[in-house]
Amino acid sequence: MTPTNRTKLNAVIGYPLEHSLSPLLHTNAYELLGIDAIMLAFPCTDLPSIVQTIRTLPIHLTAVTIPHKETIMAYLDNIDEEAKEIGSVNTIVNKDGVLRGYNTDVIGIQKAFDDTAMKDKGVLIIGAGGAAKAAAWMVKKNDGRLSYLNRTHEKALALKNVFGGEILTRDEVENKNFDIIINTTSVGMYPNTTETPLTNFSFSPHQVVFDCVYNPRETRLLREAKKAEAKTISGIDMFFEQAFAQIHLWAGEEVSGEIKEKIHSVIPSANEGSRR
Ligand code: ATR
Repeated sequence: MTPTNRTKLNAVIGYPLEHSLSPLLHTNAYELLGIDAIMLAFPCTDLPSIVQTIRTLPIHLTAVTIPHKETIMAYLDNIDEEAKEIGSVNTIVNKDGVLRGYNTDVIGIQKAFDDTAMKDKGVLIIGAGGAAKAAAWMVKKNDGRLSYLNRTHEKALALKNVFGGEILTRDEVENKNFDIIINTTSVGMYPNTTETPLTNFSFSPHQVVFDCVYNPRETRLLREAKKAEAKTISGIDMFFEQAFAQIHLWAGEEVSGEIKEKIHSVIPSANEGSRR
């Protein structure tokens, strides 16, 4: 779509943003839905300035990613109840100058687990940032049993205090059998694709392993889980659904199954370094 002087500007903010497929997904979706808008990536660390920019330009819809999902909350005019409960915002809708924060990660992650029973299942969450909060909220809502593994103990403790469960050390994780494993860290994300958040870990066939990282679609974590015949779910499913929910919140448009299929086919299956 050729931009005009009426084309609306949307943004994804985070740092770094090399991995982000949001501009490609959103701009393709707008075109298919007949919405005159584009999304661009703005890697940034200065939140007060970027929030001022959102108000000034204006930027209509902002996707928020690592590492700003929690810190951004202090700069918004109001926050949706569910996002408040989760404690993390990945979407800002600018309605006539009023910035409202939402969490659509939770919609995406719930969709990714639609076919997985969670009641009384042992669920390990790796990481303790914004995506971990959305995951923990979803697991709690579905009556799963929560365990956390995180580099920084205090952040895991903050999660435990809100959603319950237990904090484990790396050694304890290696010796425990989980039904479901959810990685919410960026470990393994492009360009660091040889990394994995679980080293020396034996997966088993009954397990379901989900990685929030969507670029690459199959991370080292998922590859190793698959080798052990565990069921794997790529973060791409969550990524698509959280983005469609963002478009719905902003433009009021439901993305139909047919358009979803079309968008799936234009998004590259792997990052060869050319997609940013
Ligand atoms: P998001 O909001 O997308 O979840 P975030 O708030 O920056 O992003 O959280 C990222 C999580 O991944 C954090 O829990 C972080 O660990 P710390 O709590 O110790 O900061 C974790 N993480 C990121 N990079 C990591 C790495 N290289 N090794 C281990 N954990 C990492």
